[in-house]
Amino acid sequence: MRVITYGTFDLFHEGHRRLLERARALGDHLIVGVTTDSYDNSRGKLNVTQDVLERIRNVENTGLADQIIVEEYEGQKISDVQKYDVDIFAIGSDWQGHFDYLRDYCQVVYLERTKGVSSTQLRNAEGVISLGIVGAGRIARRMVAEARFVSGVSVEAVYSRTFERTQAFADELEIGRAHRSYDELLDGVSAVYVASPHHAHVEHVRRAIDRGRHVLCEKPLALTRAEADELFARAAAADVVLIEAIKTAFAPGFERMVGVARSGSIGEIRSVDATFTKLVRHGRELRAPDGGSISELATYPLLAIVKLLGTGYDTISTHSYRPADSAVELFSRIDLNFPHAISSARIGLGVKAEGDLVVAGTRGYLYVPAPWWLTEFFEVRFEDPRHNKKFYATFDGDGLRYELAEFCTMIRSGRRESFRLRAAESIAIAGIIESARAAAHTFG
Ligand code: CTP
Repeated sequence: MRVITYGTFDLFHEGHRRLLERARALGDHLIVGVTTDSYDNSRGKLNVTQDVLERIRNVENTGLADQIIVEEYEGQKISDVQKYDVDIFAIGSDWQGHFDYLRDYCQVVYLERTKGVSSTQLRNAEGVISLGIVGAGRIARRMVAEARFVSGVSVEAVYSRTFERTQAFADELEIGRAHRSYDELLDGVSAVYVASPHHAHVEHVRRAIDRGRHVLCEKPLALTRAEADELFARAAAADVVLIEAIKTAFAPGFERMVGVARSGSIGEIRSVDATFTKLVRHGRELRAPDGGSISELATYPLLAIVKLLGTGYDTISTHSYRPADSAVELFSRIDLNFPHAISSARIGLGVKAEGDLVVAGTRGYLYVPAPWWLTEFFEVRFEDPRHNKKFYATFDGDGLRYELAEFCTMIRSGRRESFRLRAAESIAIAGIIESARAAAHTFG
């Protein structure tokens, strides 16, 4: 009898061993499917500590598996069961009922799960990261909701300018502590998510770093290059993590898109055009000194440009529309020229345009339809459409879970830079925003 079972097998533990022993005893040939990193990511299992090869080695070392395969996509089990002539599919009882659909192909056995141990528990045993939230607005609220999907982190405190608001936020979202002072918040946490108004970011980040706290800061981290530079230098000196929370950068689909575009599939990249508009009629975004489409929205298109073309642009020019009765520009186009490519970021408040991304190359182009910054789908297109290729990816919830998962992994692993968004890239983006705003005369 041939038996198959599947799992992530992260931080291999006694529960895994017992499961494999019992699965093996059901027959005389055991096949173990180990999930790939991208499959786990796509099914929302973030924060897996070991990569697929280490996890395969975990299973191999038990000597219980006769054959090991990788599980890469949803629906694969049906093919595997047939391909490997499987008689029995076995899995832990936490999945009771979930795989009954396989009964059309083989026997299905649920084995009792070993109590008191799990990979999640082991990951948390390394210490749950206590997170403090700075700000009590819309985005802060979203982060609290998203944090529930990331293991090993717990939102424990909140601080914002007005205590009544802070308290109401804490009560509603069941956060343990509402603080009147920022220092008090910093005292009780190991990391902060800064979602205060833009002009307060730099000061909040600086103080957190100086107290040795890791920082995930909402975009824009800073509105000048010098400030962004200073903050990253400070973070490096204090040996803490600092990342700008540009959620798109950490989403699986965007990473894939950048990889496909930069690996020559469309030839050499000659231009990048990215648009982001938002219908806003009143509020903070439209007020001086730090409102306007550039400070509000330019981060996303600039991220795409910097990831696709790098930070070595030669020239920058900005065209803006600012109505006579408005304190800030409302629609802007930032053009960046690179040695071998040109690019354009279009952003608008109170105006709607197609929010797509087009990457033109010497062989073909890559198209990401609106909303490209959530990157669930993109297509590589050619003059001969028969060669076009479509790509799909998951983007769960509001997407903040991806940046938070990366933040937590970095804190745990001691890694201080993420290849998904490097300090130099955030600094370049701050510099471009600074130049564009100066050109648009939106100051003061
Ligand atoms: N398993 C078990 N007893 C445990 C933990 C896991 O029998 N205490 C079984 C699962 O039911 C599954 C297999 O081991 O059949 C692989 O599970 P996996 O998801 O890799 O392990 P977990 O510890 O459950 O991982 P996580 O906490 O990340 O969900």
